[in-house]
Amino acid sequence: MYIISNLIKVTIPNYLASLPIPDSFGGWFRLGVRDWLALVPPTLAVGGISYVSYQTIKKAREVGQVNPSIRKDINKVVDFIDIEDITEKASLCRCWRSKNWPYCDGAHGAHNKATGDNTGPVVVRHKENK
Ligand code: FES
Repeated sequence: MYIISNLIKVTIPNYLASLPIPDSFGGWFRLGVRDWLALVPPTLAVGGISYVSYQTIKKAREVGQVNPSIRKDINKVVDFIDIEDITEKASLCRCWRSKNWPYCDGAHGAHNKATGDNTGPVVVRHKENK
């Protein structure tokens, strides 16, 4: 526990205090090559931590979503299909993986195989075609 305590209370603050961060905006223009080189590691560390955090948050948000890719630029995906346009039957996607949305293209098969899910289309058909 001492190592972690010392790292947080002594080592990191001493390292940050030693960085050549200027007190004014104009001070950035007076930094030398060695000063800029000294700023590279902490800049990479902050950038790396920020990137990993962003990716983690982004992935956590996607986990709870049903729709991975269809029209993600709008708030709600709503489709209308006129019943008169369905000649015999229509298979409508319910897995949200179809490239032919809102119609099923069979992509649910790969999704089910990869995830163990059991999704499939809803088939709309005319009563006389049952
Ligand atoms: S492709 Fe989505 S249900 Fe078939």
